[in-house]
Amino acid sequence: MLPLVLISAVALFTALCYKYIIYPGFISPFSKVPKAHFSVPLTSLWIKWKRPEGTNAIPTLLEAHRKHGPIVRLSPDELSVASLDGLRQVYTGGFEKSQEYADEFINYGTPNLVSMVQNRPHSIQKRMISHVYSKSSIHNSVDLQTLSKILLFERMFPALQSAVQGDKIVDAYGLSQALGVDFVTAFLFGIDNGTDYIRDIVARRKFMTNYWAKKDGVDTERTTEELEAYVLSLCHAAETVSEQSPTSRPVVHAQLSSQLSKSAVPPQQRDLAVASEMMDHISASIDTTTVTMTYIEWELSQNLGLQSALRKELRSLPSPLLHSLNSGKGEQIEQKLPDPKELDALPLLNAVLKEVLRVYPPSAALLDRVTPPGGAVIEGYDIPGGITVGTSAKIMHLNEKVFSNAESFKPERWLSDGSEQSVNRIKQMNRWFWSFGSGGRMCIGNHFAIHMLKTIVAAIYTNYETTIVADEGIEPEDAFVALPVGRKLVLKLNPVDEGT
Ligand code: HEM
Repeated sequence: MLPLVLISAVALFTALCYKYIIYPGFISPFSKVPKAHFSVPLTSLWIKWKRPEGTNAIPTLLEAHRKHGPIVRLSPDELSVASLDGLRQVYTGGFEKSQEYADEFINYGTPNLVSMVQNRPHSIQKRMISHVYSKSSIHNSVDLQTLSKILLFERMFPALQSAVQGDKIVDAYGLSQALGVDFVTAFLFGIDNGTDYIRDIVARRKFMTNYWAKKDGVDTERTTEELEAYVLSLCHAAETVSEQSPTSRPVVHAQLSSQLSKSAVPPQQRDLAVASEMMDHISASIDTTTVTMTYIEWELSQNLGLQSALRKELRSLPSPLLHSLNSGKGEQIEQKLPDPKELDALPLLNAVLKEVLRVYPPSAALLDRVTPPGGAVIEGYDIPGGITVGTSAKIMHLNEKVFSNAESFKPERWLSDGSEQSVNRIKQMNRWFWSFGSGGRMCIGNHFAIHMLKTIVAAIYTNYETTIVADEGIEPEDAFVALPVGRKLVLKLNPVDEGT
């Protein structure tokens, strides 16, 4: 009797070992994928240990990719991919988002572009608004030019000028945050209904406190309620703006409302569907703009030669973004903005922005997708269905074979000398540049963001020279959005005379 029990126990033990250890660890096709650590086919303990307190372990993953190549297994059900082929398969291959997006980014209990897991409803909603964010719409938008002029000439320049008349010190981090919210809310709701956080610092701090508490899961119910009520009030105000508004129209709000009214979404659900999408765009703009503006200013403030070359280029525009109070002679200069296409064509401005987005990608974490039920072949490996797979822009951007001396900030790498070799080199870097993602889920606001950031940089650096006063904790956080750890950049501002 005893040997029979023993034999059965040994057989059961062997079968379990085979099923849970030997097959997944050594025999299955999936087991052939290079492993970041020997334990990853069996347990997710290693990657959890590498990701304390919600961090992403991007430095660890970078090391693993440098050692093992473009595909690395991180746990029994997670992969990291860093190659052009991988991007094509995962992000343009119709893989859906992971459930975490639905849980984390939903507003008003109603889905929006970021939180929609399934591709079909997502692409229907995206088509409704993608037109207003297209490059040609952004470059030709009278509303965007109108609101930019008001935000810069009536709000930002007076704030900078009063700093210059005082101790010349500017909270550049806080101003970047304010610009990120004010620009996007003006485009969503019209300038009269948008926020005014450039001037109203108390309101900005209150909003940001709620925004961060919601993101960090602190006092979520109250902060979510306050934020949602506030954004809903902006939506209701936008509904009252007439088409002939002398300032600016609620471009995105109006577009989505009108498209939803022609759709199958029941009228009683439209209000919240629009509000959820608007909140989504505000969240997508705040931190990404803050990160990018902060690092542009930080890099430029350390390199006065680069600043001066950029200023020369900005002042070479047919209509440079000069600020009258800066003339030094007291006379008024006509308040006008450069032509968006001419601004966009400036090579050095483009190179500085591109290099900041490369070295400091705001969304540096793995952007997770899930392999379809039937599985997929990625980088030549058979991957079963239901596996989470992601790519990090930061890892893509630190590939030494594509970006020589990849960790260094070198805007000149994006400047062409016209030779075939440099044209091809830049083409190749562009293929690997992934700050806005790619495929059907690529950032809808990329042209808006690029235009806004170039306009703000032109406004500041045509008129002022900046140097660093305080930048403790400037290094990027290893988080979903890579804000500076210290949330701080204080600059000294010096007006630069027109002739300089
Ligand atoms: C430097 C600025 C920005 C960067 C680096 C950036 C980056 C990204 C990235 C990487 C994604 C893809 C996320 C994923 O695949 O999971 C994304 C999506 C998105 N972004 Fe941006 N973003 C920026 C600015 C903006 C702005 C200003 C807006 C709003 C006007 C915006 C709205 C969105 C929306 C709505 C999505 C979801 C798109 C979709 O699922 O189809 N972003 N962004």
